[in-house]
Amino acid sequence: MNLPNLNDARRRTKEKVEILDNYKITEEQKTLGLNKKYFVKTYGCQMNEHDSENIKAILEDMGYTATDNMEDANLIILNTCAIRENAHNKVFGLLGRIKHMKQSKEVMVGFGGCMAQEEVIVDEILNKYKWIDFVFGTHNIYDLPNIIEKSKNKQEIDVFSIEGDVIENIPVKRDSKYKAWVNIMYGCDKFCTYCIVPYTRGKQRSRLPKYIIDEVNELIKDGYKEVTLLGQNVNAYGKDLDIDYNMANLLEDVAKTNIERIRFVTSHPWDFNDDMIDVMSKYKNIMPYIHLPLQSGSDKILKLMGRRYTKEEYIDLYNKLKSKIPNCSITTDIIVGFPNETKEDFQDTLDVVNICKYDGAFTFIFSPRIGTPASRMKDDITLEEKEERLQTLNNLVNKYSKENNDKYLNKIVPVLLEDYSSKNGNYLKGYTDTMKLVNVKADSSYLGKIVNVKITSVKTWSMDGEII
Ligand code: SAH
Ligand code: SF4
Ligand code: F3S
Repeated sequence: MNLPNLNDARRRTKEKVEILDNYKITEEQKTLGLNKKYFVKTYGCQMNEHDSENIKAILEDMGYTATDNMEDANLIILNTCAIRENAHNKVFGLLGRIKHMKQSKEVMVGFGGCMAQEEVIVDEILNKYKWIDFVFGTHNIYDLPNIIEKSKNKQEIDVFSIEGDVIENIPVKRDSKYKAWVNIMYGCDKFCTYCIVPYTRGKQRSRLPKYIIDEVNELIKDGYKEVTLLGQNVNAYGKDLDIDYNMANLLEDVAKTNIERIRFVTSHPWDFNDDMIDVMSKYKNIMPYIHLPLQSGSDKILKLMGRRYTKEEYIDLYNKLKSKIPNCSITTDIIVGFPNETKEDFQDTLDVVNICKYDGAFTFIFSPRIGTPASRMKDDITLEEKEERLQTLNNLVNKYSKENNDKYLNKIVPVLLEDYSSKNGNYLKGYTDTMKLVNVKADSSYLGKIVNVKITSVKTWSMDGEII
């Protein structure tokens, strides 16, 4: 058993990051899943979604086949998220249902992802969820064939709380045929005081540029139209490498592969430099869309959060992006009810929203995460007050979202049609270069194509249009 350990997870040394080909599978393991079906449920961010693409490929290497119906599965894996308490609640809710299932049929259950990296969660599994067959951490995905094999006889727990390596040979089964996630870095060293990610994902480790460029070229060959470069803090890409190479260099090299669309998430405002902005404005295939988390508009709260920028610096960056990247859309993340947030602090946040008029925002009530500094700060705002602030903020965010979308009415915009619309089978859905969701009446021959669409109606969260 390898149990998670918060103190180990917090540690950062200068130890060199190893690039490993650690994924191995034996001939016997390749038959373990024959005639069996798997179901993977994913929570959390894009990083987790991409990890699930790795998990699915490993399971298929083991002979399992996919099912969309959990009740049909012989193996269920939950790839969990630890970012807020409600993420926990959802997972424990589903575990209740699975336990029930397990009473009437034989089904193997695995628990992975960021919650598996938490001491308190694994303690709870050891005490109350003895029927879960295996637990694996974010650093242990490559070892799934062994973990699953060992769990046939006893509960297997494999969670490393290491700084982490980079494992290059894990297979991937991508959810989309047209757009792909490409990891450019793992982990995070920012340690924002509220955030659990640096503990669940290890230290910042950038992938070497050649692996990233090779992966993008491979995707082009396979017909992919869009890549999203993934990292918790992509603007800091390369800072941990021995070579003189940064995010601006990488963006330029990826742009030169001529893949049709390039996106990246997430940008920390602190590391967004002018070179990056120049590259973005120079290459047409880098999409004019930036997710730029604000978190709070109050300098006092930003300091308590450890974000290392001020309200003014954020607004300056925002204005620079808007002026240098024409037609750029910008979205954000905001936390309300952080410890010590006064009405005035909250008003500062609203002020920034009124200045930036975001295209969209993900808004959250602060959720204390065990082990983080903010969880030990005195928090004397009532839940009622926090909910009221969230509501006020959401109303403002929605207003600007709709206003921004309204500007698209009757305009012609490029849309990559990626899937059937969830509402109506005669419609396809896709995103504009600026990351606006558009539903279009079109048949399946348009799937995977970037088409010009005239926007005919506009809502807060999406738009409808016609192919021109
Ligand atoms: N790496 C990204 C954020 C990843 S987490 C970045 O630095 O921007 C996604 C969002 O969840 C964060 O931007 C933050 O707004 C929110 N979040 C993180 N920890 C939280 C917590 N403890 N309580 C509430 N929201 C949180
Ligand atoms: Fe969390 Fe901050 Fe790292 Fe983002 S930059 S993952 S918010 S610690
Ligand atoms: Fe959640 Fe882990 Fe992502 S905590 S947001 S799944 S990095």
